[in-house]
Amino acid sequence: MDLIRAASAPVATAGWFAAASLLRAVRQVNTWTRSQSVPMAALPQRWAAAEVLRSAGWSTQLPDEAVAALAAELQRGNVLARCTPAQRAAILPGLLAADAGLFHRLPDMDQVLNFSSHMRGSWMREQAAAVPAGARVLDAGAGEGQYRPLFAHTRYASQDFAQYTGSSDAAAPETWTYNKLDYVCDITAIPVPDGSFDAVICTEVLEHVPEPLAALRELARVTAPGGRLIVTAPLGSGMHQEPYHFYGGYSRHFWERVLPQLGFEIDELVPLRGLLSHAAQEVHRASRYMALQGDLPQDQAWVMQEWLPRLLHDKDPAVPVEQFTVGYMVRATKRASAREEGAT
Ligand SMILES: C[S@@+](CC[C@H](N)C(=O)[O-])C[C@H]1O[C@@H](n2cnc3c(N)ncnc32)[C@H](O)[C@@H]1O
Repeated sequence: MDLIRAASAPVATAGWFAAASLLRAVRQVNTWTRSQSVPMAALPQRWAAAEVLRSAGWSTQLPDEAVAALAAELQRGNVLARCTPAQRAAILPGLLAADAGLFHRLPDMDQVLNFSSHMRGSWMREQAAAVPAGARVLDAGAGEGQYRPLFAHTRYASQDFAQYTGSSDAAAPETWTYNKLDYVCDITAIPVPDGSFDAVICTEVLEHVPEPLAALRELARVTAPGGRLIVTAPLGSGMHQEPYHFYGGYSRHFWERVLPQLGFEIDELVPLRGLLSHAAQEVHRASRYMALQGDLPQDQAWVMQEWLPRLLHDKDPAVPVEQFTVGYMVRATKRASAREEGAT
C-alpha cells in the first residue's frame, strides 16, 4: 500500500490536509523520535503514531486513516527501508497484522530472551513443593544457590567446586558469587555416605563437568533408594562460565539411556520449548554482538531485537521442533533395588 494513495483518499474527500503535508509530518516525527530515543517498538501502533504527533506539537486532529497511514509509513521507513517495493508489498501486511497482536500479547522481552530460566524456575517450584517437609536435599553444583529458598521446608545442603569467578565478555558479562556451601568439592567425589539424600537437584551443571557420567554416577550413589533426582542440562547452548564448559548435547535419548542404567526410572522429561524459541534467543544475541561492532542500524535493530524474537517465540508452541530445544528438565526416581547397569 502506497502512503500517498492511502493518505490522499481520506485527505481529498475530507479535505484535512494534503499527502505532501503528511509526508512532511512523517519526516518531522522521524527526526523528533530519533532525538527523543522513542523506542521503535512503540511506533508501529496507531495510537503511538497519534501520540508521537501530539507530543511533537502537531495539534491537528488527525483522521483515523491518516494515523493508520502514518503508522504504516513509520514502520515501513524504519523496518523495510532496505527492501525492494515488491518485497515490501509482500511483507508489510503480515508485519502489520503480526505486530498488532504481538506487542500486546508479549510486552515483556525478558519472557522471550530468558524463557528457559523462567520455565526452569516454575518447574523447580513445582518440584520443590512435591518434596516432603524434612526431606534431605542436596543441591549439587548449587553456585549462587538460586533455588535454596524453594527448599526452606527441607533439610537442604549445597555443594559446588567454587572455582568459577565470573565473565567479562562484553555481550554477556557475569559476576558469580557462591552462596553458603556445605560441601566444597568436585561433583564426582562428594564426601557423604551412599544414599544420604532423599532428593538430589542438579541444574545446568553437567555441561561444566569434564566427566559428566562420573558426576551422574556420584549423584546416583548419594541418592537414597526411592529418592528422586531432579536434573536439567542443555542440549544447545553457547559456551559460558569458561573455561569450565566441556559439553552440551544432553538429548532426550541421553537421559532415556543413561538414567535407567544408573538405577533410575524417569518420571518426567520436559523439553525447554523448541527451535523457534531457541532461534528467537539467538537472533537477539547475534544482534547484540553486531551492535557491539557498531554494525546494527536502527531499522535492523528493530527487526532483530523487537519484532523477530517476539514473532518466533510466539509461534513456537504451534510449530514445535524438539530437535533444536535448548535442553531438558528431568525428574527420575531411584529404584528401591537400584544397581548400576554399567553406564559408560
Ligand atoms: C551454570 S552454574 C549453575 C548453578 C546452579 N545449579 C543454578 O542452576 O543456578 C554451574 C555451576 O556448576 C559448578 N561446577 C562446575 N564444575 C563443577 C565441578 N566439577 N564440581 C562441582 N561443581 C561444578 C560451577 O561452579 C557453577 O556454580
